[in-house]
Amino acid sequence: MVTDTPPFDLDIAQLRQRTSAKWRAADPDVLPLWVAEMDVLPARPVVEALCKALDRGDTGYAFGAEYAEAYAAFARDRWGSGGFEPARSAMVPDVMLGAVELLKVLTGPGDAVVVTPPVYPPFYAFAEHLGRRVVEVPLTAELRLDLPALADAFRSAAGRGRGAFLLCNPHNPTGTVHSYDELAAVAAAAEAAGVRVVADEIHAPLVLPGATYTPYLTVRGAGSGFALVSASKGWNLPGLKAAVAFAGPEAGADLARLPEEVGHGVSHLGALAHTAALRHGREWLDAVVEGLDRNRALLGDLLAAHLPSVRWNPGAATYLAWLDFADLPWAATAGADADASRGDASVRAGVAAWLYEHARVLLSSGPAFGSGGEHCARLNFATSATVLTEAIARMAAAVGAPR
Ligand SMILES: Cc1ncc(COP(=O)(O)O)c(C=O)c1O
Repeated sequence: MVTDTPPFDLDIAQLRQRTSAKWRAADPDVLPLWVAEMDVLPARPVVEALCKALDRGDTGYAFGAEYAEAYAAFARDRWGSGGFEPARSAMVPDVMLGAVELLKVLTGPGDAVVVTPPVYPPFYAFAEHLGRRVVEVPLTAELRLDLPALADAFRSAAGRGRGAFLLCNPHNPTGTVHSYDELAAVAAAAEAAGVRVVADEIHAPLVLPGATYTPYLTVRGAGSGFALVSASKGWNLPGLKAAVAFAGPEAGADLARLPEEVGHGVSHLGALAHTAALRHGREWLDAVVEGLDRNRALLGDLLAAHLPSVRWNPGAATYLAWLDFADLPWAATAGADADASRGDASVRAGVAAWLYEHARVLLSSGPAFGSGGEHCARLNFATSATVLTEAIARMAAAVGAPR
């Protein structure tokens, strides 16, 4: 059964049959609330598109602009947004490989790539692997972009070569939805300094209905920027790799500098699945976003009742909760050993390592998300109410247990 089951209603025995990273990386008694996979069944139109493609033997290489056209139509219908011009797009194997290829075009070895921690760990890992210099401009205490500090970092990056800003819009792990004005200020500062913006918009479909989402390429002054988009997170398709890079009006020539071969890594079945999701999986997405909102509220209630000293400032997008354990005395010691794991989401360090051992719950390690993550961990609440409730009960029991 697909689609007809309400989202987040799978039981743990069904989920444990899954063979993906989320369900196989931890011991079998552990509740996995870490990597960004959702505990849902797929949208029926996606399954049908894949089955039909397999039936007709349509398992060759990806081709054409249908995925880009489907995203442009989705953006128009959902947010009333232009900004996504299929004539200025390229399919890329996935969002992060798209980011890597764009950074190769826009910057050179040793140039700065600005990131805003806490942020998705591969932003560090891939930029560093590429020989770029990662420059951190942490979010403010309210988890917003620090605009004056970004402008400074852009000026200083441009003073030493060609700089780029990897923007996460909406933001992983905090769920922050950047406002139009914030993004326009980013665009203005980047333009003034000659820094190029690459916006990772993979979480855009998962913005709550009450919040206003702004695609980066729709803001004033963003014409030299890029957006990387994908149906991967919104429809839970990370195993069906595909993504699209869109260039702003002044960035088309740079997009054309991506080697044609980059497109060879796109999974044709991935592109078909993502296209079907964007065109025909919108009711499914709405049901999932509603379910996530219920889970967001449940998590807030559970934390207030059982772990009141854990701080959480919920964002209006994604299914990720950035939890701050700094008020718990043991967190200081747990965080002390954590520095080495910046950018490496596979390392269990700090609070997450402690919780794995003592609560048998797997969260993502805060230090992997960069500076300021020492006492934090990221919890994925795209699961059933039962799993979420049990996970918080286990954490509360471990935290409250005598040591
Ligand atoms: C912000 C962000 N970018 C990129 C990715 C990975 O996307 P892809 O598999 O398309 O590289 C994720 C996955 O969780 C993510 O959260």
